[in-house]
Order: sequence, then structure tokens, then C-alpha cells
Amino acid sequence: MKRFDISVLGELNCDLILYGLPAVLEPEREHLANDFAMTLGSSSAIFAHNISLLGSRVGFTSCIGGDPLGKFCVDRLVESGVDVSGVKCLPDKTTGVTVILPLAKNRQILTYPGTTFDLQYTHLNLDYLTSAAHFHLSSFFLLRSLRPDLPELFRRMKQAGLTTSLDTNDDPENLWAKDVKTVLQSVDVFLPNEQEACKLVRTGDLDSALDALSRLVPIVVIKCGAQGAIAKRGKDRFYAASLSGQPVDTVGAGDSFNAGFLHKYIHGADIQDCLEYGNASAGLSTTRAGGTEAFRDRQHREAFLQRCGKA
Ligand SMILES: Nc1ncnc2c1ncn2[C@@H]1O[C@H](COP(=O)(O)OP(=O)(O)O)[C@@H](O)[C@H]1O
Ligand SMILES: [Mg+2]
Repeated sequence: MKRFDISVLGELNCDLILYGLPAVLEPEREHLANDFAMTLGSSSAIFAHNISLLGSRVGFTSCIGGDPLGKFCVDRLVESGVDVSGVKCLPDKTTGVTVILPLAKNRQILTYPGTTFDLQYTHLNLDYLTSAAHFHLSSFFLLRSLRPDLPELFRRMKQAGLTTSLDTNDDPENLWAKDVKTVLQSVDVFLPNEQEACKLVRTGDLDSALDALSRLVPIVVIKCGAQGAIAKRGKDRFYAASLSGQPVDTVGAGDSFNAGFLHKYIHGADIQDCLEYGNASAGLSTTRAGGTEAFRDRQHREAFLQRCGKA
């Protein structure tokens, strides 16, 4: 039996959310928020935190700077039960941060990537990464220093007998270069959202994206926001509706979906169950601000999953 169910590799930073700002922000004026939250951010960390609280044994690899925000992120992961011995501290660097301004009509999202851009192959401990049954990577395009090594790293994970999954998230440069497809050769489960799926295979419609991607990976899962999620394995298609109800905040919904889906996948469930649990987990995430707050509250988490018939 391996030490972990899943090894997670990716970025680690926090979200600062300022609520209740005026609808329009004017230059050189001081605008007052009426509430503030500091919460664990970043796709990989939200995923690791939430899949741990669903019951998987998680080993996390990333890097932080020598600042208090980095320590805050690590503390949150530890609280959720994640093993953080793969998190390297780079004392002269600064951990990244995202400032989120939910305004009346839309959100302003401002990110300083910080140590996300510094994570390198030399920071990785391959024995630690392979001491799990499954390997997952999030935020392919943000891991700038690590990106050239990712095809080889995924090949090594497969060689070591792990199953693998990838959620690229969006490409800020919008190029969707060839190296993503090279990595997909060593990916068992690929989990993009609808826009990302279409951009990667350069098509405008969901059905052809699903077909094209299903020729590249054994299982493709496409997240479609309020429309739920679809999957394809070989010729077989699967669909599960998302939960109804007005979301409080969809930050981290995709990562929470991945947590639910992969928690079931790692434990051998069939794809329909994985999809339904993914939607339940994403639905839970949308009941509170940020990507992890709904999961941290044990009573809330357990009651919600019970109501969905997923306890
Ligand atoms: N407005 C919504 N109502 C209900 N569920 C939602 C909503 N937005 C997202 N979800 C849930 O979160 C999952 C992932 O959301 P999506 O927005 O597609 O991914 P991402 O966050 O990666 O962009 C969906 O499959 C669904 O289960
Ligand atoms: Mg996403």
C-alpha cells in the first residue's frame, strides 16, 4: 500500500477578497469595503485541501516564500490533513497572492504570481511524488519554470505505475501550445472546463471538443458550469447535472469538482458516480465565499453531502 492516495503538484497562494465596494472604482479615491476575507487560494491548493477533507490521503508539492502569507497557506493545508513535506520554502522570495474585488456587475481579479513562477524541477522530490497511487497537476500555464519539464515528469509518473490527471486551467497567453498535447500522452484523466476544452482543440462546440479530446486521453471530463459536467471514455459518454440553487461564490468550483471526481476515481468508482460526486463537491464549494470555506466547516460539509445523498 502506497503512503498517499494522491500526490498533488502545483501553485500555493492565498486569496484576499474585499466585499461591498462601490460599483465603480474611481482613480485616486479611497474606496471602503464593508467586509474582508483572507482564504486559501490557488487551484492546486484548493484541490488538495478539499480532496483531503473528502477522505483521500494527500501529499502536496509546491513552494512558498519566506513571508507570513506563505505560512498561512501551509497552515490551512495542514489543518485539512494534507501532508506538506513537499512544500519548499524559498526565503528570499515572496509567495503569490490574488486580490478579488466582487463589484456589482463583475469581479476584478488581480494576481501577483510570486513563487508560482519559481517552482522548478530541482525543488521536486521524485520519491515523494511517486509514493502515491495517483498524481495530479493543476495550473499548467502558471508554472512557468516547471513547464518545460512537465512532459518528462508525467512520463516518469506513468513509468512508476501511478495513474495521472491534469487540469490546465486557462492559458493567460491564450496560445494553447503543443506541449499540452505532449503531456496529455501521459494523462489518464483530463479535466478542463468548456472554454478550455474548445480552445485546446481549436473548435467552437462542446461535442467536437469532447470527441477530439477523447482520442487523446483515456477519460476526458468537461466541466460546464451551471450545466453540469460531461465525460467520455472510448465510445461511452456520461453526463451529470449540476446541483440547483443560487451559488454564493463560484471561486474554486472547478477545483472542488476535480476533488470530488478524483476522490471517487482513485477509489475505483464508475464514471457516473465520479461525475455526480464531482458536482456535489462543486455545489458544496459554491455555498460559501472562496474555494475552501464550505469544506472547512465540518458540520456544514457533512450535512450538505448528506442532503445530496453523498455522505
Ligand atoms: N452557476 C452554477 N450553478 C451550479 N453549479 C455550478 C455553477 N458554476 C459551477 N458549478 C459547478 O462547478 C463545476 C465546475 O464549474 P466550471 O465553472 O465549469 O469550472 P471552472 O471553475 O474550472 O471554470 C460545474 O461542473 C458545476 O458542478
Ligand atoms: Mg478550472
